[in-house]
Amino acid sequence: MCAPEQSADDGTVTNSKWVLKARPQGIFDPKKDVAFKTESISNTDLADDEMLVESFMLSGDAFIRTMMDEEAYHGALSLGDTLPAIGYGKVVAAGPKSCHKVGTVVSGMIGAQTYAKIKSGGAFRHITFPFMTPTASLGLMGLTTGLTAYTGVFYVSRRPRKGETVVVTGAAGAVGSVAAQLAKATGARVVGVAGGPKKCQYLVEELKLDGAIDYKNSEKTLEEQITATCPDGIDFIYDNVGGSILDRLLSKINSNGRVVICGAISQYSGNLNKGKVEGPSNYLKLAEVGAEMKGFNVMQYMARVPLALCGMFYYFIRGKVRMTEHIEVGIQSFPHALAKMFSGGSNGHIGKMLVKVRSNLPK
Ligand SMILES: NC(=O)c1ccc[n+]([C@@H]2O[C@H](COP(=O)([O-])OP(=O)(O)OC[C@H]3O[C@@H](n4cnc5c(N)ncnc54)[C@H](OP(=O)(O)O)[C@@H]3O)[C@@H](O)[C@H]2O)c1
Repeated sequence: MCAPEQSADDGTVTNSKWVLKARPQGIFDPKKDVAFKTESISNTDLADDEMLVESFMLSGDAFIRTMMDEEAYHGALSLGDTLPAIGYGKVVAAGPKSCHKVGTVVSGMIGAQTYAKIKSGGAFRHITFPFMTPTASLGLMGLTTGLTAYTGVFYVSRRPRKGETVVVTGAAGAVGSVAAQLAKATGARVVGVAGGPKKCQYLVEELKLDGAIDYKNSEKTLEEQITATCPDGIDFIYDNVGGSILDRLLSKINSNGRVVICGAISQYSGNLNKGKVEGPSNYLKLAEVGAEMKGFNVMQYMARVPLALCGMFYYFIRGKVRMTEHIEVGIQSFPHALAKMFSGGSNGHIGKMLVKVRSNLPK
């Protein structure tokens, strides 16, 4: 039963938020595509089952960009809509039929804003994990990040085995860095693909991968780097990027190889919307060697989430997996943080992109 709740105070709050101003043409441009708005929200505006949540921390996710397109893969935003963002924050006011009390920290689809008016059923009590920071619920233990990596490595296809060669694309990012560490924990040789020397150094020196491929390297071709780092071919590809990088990797896939399609971030800047997805033109290689390719959406594996959480915690405690966090500060920084995810390279982030909504808020 929902207990009736009182508002934390009877005043109004000023909500600052990012809304979609125009549909991006190609690469997302914060200056052209979004607008910063403020509005007053009164506690008395809340419906009985609504609550007002003060945002603490927001997650940068690739799906936010695809939702800006008209024919979006995850459902489209309308012009003027608040940008979606998963996050957590504190309930500061609650209607009488809200399931959450004032003062509770909740997680859910808060949006790129400082205060969110949301249905109480649309959020759940924020989970913290032993020995981890509260941000783990968005990163290592988050559905769209660590658990996506776990699902793609262990549940979608035959998992990597000791002695096999695994290649992870987008390997210095949130999902990719966890997928690479989990694959390494199976005993496989793991090679990561990332943009720029700094990220490649991170893969080899921090994550202890067996090799790194810099797809932005102008001196060595992708083919040369793949041959050098994967001399025995590739048994398992965890792909976050798609396009020409996937195509090049497919040419080295081994017999009984598995290709797990997690995402295709190289295609999100308008190609999905216009039906011009690039590649893979090398897909016949799958037939030639008897390899398989399978895509997944983590939502299709919800029943395995409890198991994945336990598994991830086991690897974390054993020191096999961790998440580097990149935290931008201030709601103003939200679209710039998002843009960084699509420009990548040396100006980009490593690990999980997070936005701490205000500098004086708890982590
Ligand atoms: N299947 C699912 O259920 C599911 C759930 C969540 C996320 N995903 C997918 O997982 C992937 C990674 O998401 P994330 O949140 O972890 O983001 P992320 O990897 O932290 O950030 C994106 C990274 O992609 C790379 N990138 C951007 N544009 C690129 C391009 N044109 N070519 C090659 N690399 C490019 C950049 O790294 P570089 O500097 O290395 O270029 C950037 O850091 C995305 O494809 C996303 O859609 C799938």
